[in-house]
Amino acid sequence: MRSIINILDLTKEEIDQLIQVAEDIIAHPQNYLEKCKHKKLATLFYEPSTRTRLSFEAAMYELGGHVIGFSEANSSSAAKGESVADTAKTISCYADIIAMRHPKEGAPMVAAANATIPVINGGDGGHNHPTQTLADLLTIHREKGTFEGLTVGLCGDLKFGRTVHSLITAMARYDNVRFVLISPEELKVPSYVKMPLKQKGISYIQTTDIESVIADLDILYMTRVQKERFFNEDDYIRLKDSYILTPQKLAKAKDTLSIMHPLPRVNEIALAIDDDPRAAYFKQVLNGKYMRMALIMMLLEVK
Ligand code: NCD
Repeated sequence: MRSIINILDLTKEEIDQLIQVAEDIIAHPQNYLEKCKHKKLATLFYEPSTRTRLSFEAAMYELGGHVIGFSEANSSSAAKGESVADTAKTISCYADIIAMRHPKEGAPMVAAANATIPVINGGDGGHNHPTQTLADLLTIHREKGTFEGLTVGLCGDLKFGRTVHSLITAMARYDNVRFVLISPEELKVPSYVKMPLKQKGISYIQTTDIESVIADLDILYMTRVQKERFFNEDDYIRLKDSYILTPQKLAKAKDTLSIMHPLPRVNEIALAIDDDPRAAYFKQVLNGKYMRMALIMMLLEVK
């Protein structure tokens, strides 16, 4: 029994396998309709979600399985004071696999330590979001055909953005990847995420100015300023519109750029860009469902 809390819980070889399975699902969805027949996924979401929870649920339904769960802490016994550990033990009696999102960093790890079924981290506070990274990796692979040698720009809230932390950690394992980290001074990537880059001698630069670097990028990963992680509303209001990608700003970008965003978008990408052939953010959404299908099958040891 195995859980996925951090993207590093999967080897590069396993990520390749998940991509292969996802590609096969895309090509032959009819072969997967009964793979998880009689299996149950529990979605335990203590924080708002549209894509992550519903794509896990859609993934399980498309594998022929069932879904139980809750979408807010207030409708579960957490509101009565139940611990994550006790909830995890309880859900282990009802389901075969758990997908969990929680505002506290480390909560899915506590759940995994107490559950007797696999736990998948669907986002823990400002920490990690490994299944968004699986969606991102399939998207990059489909857009670019490789992970190696890419210049990856990440822009916005790099401090609290958990998708950013997991994606940097994942991409740092591939050869000759360069990172361009674009954020306001206050929202720079935390040192625990940068440390492995320094240790492995991986190239990265930090800047506040997107226009000065946009021409170099193969991937531009835009992110929302994470309102719910701020202590002070004034800081959020001051920083929230730091970067708004517009067609004018894209003028110097490569024709082969892929524009990504984990969504939800608030104001970071002008609607006019949705029709640009470089926009990949709605493809990312669909890719997330296929990678979650592949991951559920892997953890349930379905052939
Ligand atoms: C992200 C998250 O929850 O961290 N959303 C998602 O799962 N696609 C990004 C965000 O909320 O900004």
